[in-house]
Amino acid sequence: MSGEPSCPFGGPAPEHSAEQAHRDFSRSLSYGDYLHLDELRSAHQPITDAHDEHLFIAIHHVSEVWLSLIVRELQAAMRLLDAGITDAPLKMLTRVVRAQEQLTAAWDVLKTMTPADYLQFRGAFGQASGFQSQNYRMVEFLLGNRNSTLLRPHEHRADLHRPLAAALHAPSVYDLTLRLLAARGLPVPAEVLQRDYAQPYQTNEAVLASWLSVYCDTETYWDLYELAEKLVDVEDNFRRWRFNHLTTVERTIGFKRGSGGTSGVGYLRGALDVVLFPELWDVRTQL
Ligand code: HEM
Repeated sequence: MSGEPSCPFGGPAPEHSAEQAHRDFSRSLSYGDYLHLDELRSAHQPITDAHDEHLFIAIHHVSEVWLSLIVRELQAAMRLLDAGITDAPLKMLTRVVRAQEQLTAAWDVLKTMTPADYLQFRGAFGQASGFQSQNYRMVEFLLGNRNSTLLRPHEHRADLHRPLAAALHAPSVYDLTLRLLAARGLPVPAEVLQRDYAQPYQTNEAVLASWLSVYCDTETYWDLYELAEKLVDVEDNFRRWRFNHLTTVERTIGFKRGSGGTSGVGYLRGALDVVLFPELWDVRTQL
């Protein structure tokens, strides 16, 4: 008897080597072709020799990719809400919530950059700032944080300005949700439904009362209740991103002005007070 353990199932061992993998891509689409990795790599262009500039650029790139996914998912969810559909958008909003978690997780990597590391390349990018991120502004406009002055940095690029301006004047995800509330017979005043969308949303007592009805009778309004809680998840995560940004900024540049021209930490601290879906927070006090 040999000392080799015998396989009870017999047969040849499965092939785990790379031998059978496709290797000739001279006439077929490869991984890199499909994902346009040459273009992706070519977008990564540090201006200095500073080691940490690579990290700084990479974190901004991944954040922009997540933000554009969030824009796409929000827009798709909003089209369905506009058509009166409540279940399918939940899946898209769940994806938004997960993507926001990835965005927020990026701060943990960026935090490894010290102020001294940052100062080695800070001078190179001049007035460029996340403040000018069209994707981020689009997310804010879709969620309802409306401010027409924030269109200004995009005026020199019609292709970026046009969709942002359109989003500023269209109903937000919350406006569409309130329409659904009204469609279910819950009182939502006309001045809320026909408001000037370019202005920030104002808290309304009748809307609060309608949400109270939903939260007190979840059996009847389960779909609206689920949608409301999903919106709270989105706003909760948005607040976390803002807070982590603020803390990262403070530990990196202290109270210096931002590269985008604002007061820096003071400006970002003000943004922490923005409330996107006010009645969904207020209803908790009423319950
Ligand atoms: C150490 C790294 C960072 C510093 C020091 C920093 C600093 C700042 C400052 C001071 C502002 C205020 C506007 C200004 O005057 O520039 C700002 C805004 C902004 N930053 Fe950053 N930032 C950093 C990383 C990031 C990253 C990784 C992102 C990801 C996309 C980002 C996105 C934004 C956005 C979207 C705004 C606009 C926020 C608003 O208007 O409410 N920042 N940043």
